[in-house]
Amino acid sequence: MLTRTRWPYPRILAHRGGGSVAPENTLVGIRAAAGMGFAGVEIDVQLAACGTPILMHDATVDRTTDGYGDVADFSADEMRRLDAGVWFGNEYAGEHVPTLEAAVALCRATGLWMNVEIKADDAVAEETGDVVAREMARLWGDASPAPLLSSFSEEVLAAALEAVPTLPRALLVEAPPGDWRERIARLKCRAICADYRHLTAAFVAEAHASGVAVGAYTVNDPGKAVTLFEWGVEAVITDELRDIRADFLATFGLAPPGGDDAASE
Ligand code: G3P
Ligand code: MG
Repeated sequence: MLTRTRWPYPRILAHRGGGSVAPENTLVGIRAAAGMGFAGVEIDVQLAACGTPILMHDATVDRTTDGYGDVADFSADEMRRLDAGVWFGNEYAGEHVPTLEAAVALCRATGLWMNVEIKADDAVAEETGDVVAREMARLWGDASPAPLLSSFSEEVLAAALEAVPTLPRALLVEAPPGDWRERIARLKCRAICADYRHLTAAFVAEAHASGVAVGAYTVNDPGKAVTLFEWGVEAVITDELRDIRADFLATFGLAPPGGDDAASE
């Protein structure tokens, strides 16, 4: 059973801000998701050299900017001088690497909920979890629902739990490990979010029986998304914003009228 208590959040999230319709982890991507009616986005956050949280997926800036080098070697100001849009298309030239602060401001202004995936090497995992959790608490304030922090790093999640226990957390995994219950309990996570190819109906039922919500990434096939929602998966993260649209659940009769975050049996 899905309840508002377990998942009071949007159920379809635009991956890396704007999925495949705009350069990843940019403000133009987040604006695209908002413009397409999405209620929530997933973004990737890590620390720049100066300690400022910025949006970036990879450990280097090579793939998604016109620069080269490790993210950890650029301050947020230096990062801002890089072009984060032209690799995706000339029409996006001039797009910057956003700070988390700028991304939150945009999401708050457009009514988007955020799943903030925290990425960090082991050496900076504790610091990153601590800083990002405190920054999200400061920037988001008392708005409801709270943002969801997620990470593949249990060190990150442990630090986030210690820093701001009231911010909900999700453990990211490729395949659910055998001891997922213990890991989730230790980190007081609300959800486990797995590569959809490793999810089964039986696992979703087991997680729900333990009061744990289930997320699935990165689901780009509408038929697979239907199956996952039929299994009771709470949320899917997608690149395909045109195929797995904001109104996808209602279109397939998988959610009651009134929005994709409404409770359902
Ligand atoms: O948050 C889930 C998903 O984003 C994990 O994959 O590599 O796109 O960050 P990745
Ligand atoms: Mg991610």
